[in-house]
Amino acid sequence: MRMLGSKDLLGLRETSADEIHEILNTAELMKVVITSNNKKTPHLQGKSIITVFYENSTRTRMSFELACKYMSGTASNISASASSVSKGETLIDTARTLDVMGTDVMIMRHPMTGAPHLMARNVKAAVINAGDGVNEHPTQALLDMYTMKERFGSIKGLRVAIVGDIRHSRVARSNIYGLTKMGASVVASGPPTLLIPDLEGLGIEVTDRVDDAVRGADVVMGLRIQLERQKKGLFPSIREYRKFFGLTEERIAAARPHALVMHPGPVNRGVEISSEVMASPDSKIDEQVTNGVAVRMALLFMLTRQKP
Ligand code: CP
Repeated sequence: MRMLGSKDLLGLRETSADEIHEILNTAELMKVVITSNNKKTPHLQGKSIITVFYENSTRTRMSFELACKYMSGTASNISASASSVSKGETLIDTARTLDVMGTDVMIMRHPMTGAPHLMARNVKAAVINAGDGVNEHPTQALLDMYTMKERFGSIKGLRVAIVGDIRHSRVARSNIYGLTKMGASVVASGPPTLLIPDLEGLGIEVTDRVDDAVRGADVVMGLRIQLERQKKGLFPSIREYRKFFGLTEERIAAARPHALVMHPGPVNRGVEISSEVMASPDSKIDEQVTNGVAVRMALLFMLTRQKP
């Protein structure tokens, strides 16, 4: 098994195709564990991880904690409101404090772009970016790619439509970096106000016509409308968004037969994706969550194994 090139996993922009292959192959072994009746391995025995979340999370935080526990490690959590950050401690001082407690891996989510990178430069522990601002969410993209590989055998040559609030989506950005490295063709679509001008420079197609994006796609990935990050006026109304950009059964029918339907969650049900599409046999939204545990087990294993 090969190592990752860095002590940290901060984004897919700086992760090679070989490394992504290695993570996905390792996740395949981990999936066997989590779908068995004995979810226990010794891989993280004697290792300690801390999730440091400055934003809310259900899937990412819990899947890292479960991944650690399934591999016999010690998992702890600290949130901004419950830490000494609320007393004025800096991010670096908080990180160093956690580091000298013997932490092996810190998993950070933060509203500011670059916060996990700053942390990584100041600690001995491996740092995993669990979402920084509107920059990257690499472990989400890895689990998305794992889900595609599981279904199609390979990512190379797939047409992947990413639909919705591209502008505010760290999931979209990590998927664009990862999927293009793995040989997929990506088309990003959404209202013009939720697209960003530099997207085409990343080697993908961009269109504000969702029907064009979905036509012939092997994978249709809906993104959450991030109402909390959005300045008012980026689209006229939720109803209009649903009508022109929502993933409905009619719209999905233009994709390839049995195209995968994906969404990173949490979902604004009935807004960016209909309940019918979510419940369809081609929807992999639940499978993505399961695969998230396998991918995060793989990463924790690989990063702790390579620590000096
Ligand atoms: N997809 C994702 O990051 O979900 P959470 O915000 O629940 O972690």
